Amino acid sequence: MSSATVSADLTGFHQICALEAIPPLGARVVATEAGEIAVFRGDQDQLFALLDRCPHKAGPLSQGIVHGTSVTCPLHAWKIELATGCAQAPDEGCTVRFPVQLVEGLVYLSITPEHAA
Ligand code: FES
Repeated sequence: MSSATVSADLTGFHQICALEAIPPLGARVVATEAGEIAVFRGDQDQLFALLDRCPHKAGPLSQGIVHGTSVTCPLHAWKIELATGCAQAPDEGCTVRFPVQLVEGLVYLSITPEHAA
């Protein structure tokens, strides 16, 4: 599966889709054994992967509105920082983050959670 032209370490990562399959300022949901993971595409084509459950009451973050590097939950409008998975003050709480990489136009996701920031 590895390629001599790919220098990134993709050990433990799974190829999900092409970047173009995720709408700009949107998300794509991936069903995994770790749960449904929302892969977000930011305004500069940054990628972020969060468990698709708001830290408030488990709203589907993938259906929220992305603003730059944050998403507004569709249920009660908490704003979640995509890089950390944490709610912006005054709200509190974090959802689980997952590593995601963009390599040669393809999106790779790991289902091993990252630790909260
Ligand atoms: S469930 Fe997300 S803001 Fe309430």
